[in-house]
Amino acid sequence: MSDWKRVCAIGDLVDNELKEFEIDGKKIVVAKTGSDTYVYPLRCPHMDEPLSTGMCDGATVTCSFHLWQWDMRTGESSGEAEIDLLLYPTKEEDGALLVDLAEELTYD
Ligand code: FES
Repeated sequence: MSDWKRVCAIGDLVDNELKEFEIDGKKIVVAKTGSDTYVYPLRCPHMDEPLSTGMCDGATVTCSFHLWQWDMRTGESSGEAEIDLLLYPTKEEDGALLVDLAEELTYD
């Protein structure tokens, strides 16, 4: 069963910037690149540091702590990352970004 939640207006997001949100107690990061948006858990799968301080370049996101990288389209490592990035399902509706938080994504 889905649990779609409104995150923000798409117009509030800036290209290639990472933005942190907390919705229903779940901390997430939103990345926007062009017309694509991605949502994933705040904590890095490596050492639990916040991915909101990372860098976003096109579909690649880089953790600022030890520079692990992932392709946000698939969550697959695009560098030395040993654990894939987990991504929440998203959709756009009436100019807003929605995320499906039905499943808690963790690396435990
Ligand atoms: S904490 Fe993110 S790469 Fe190490």
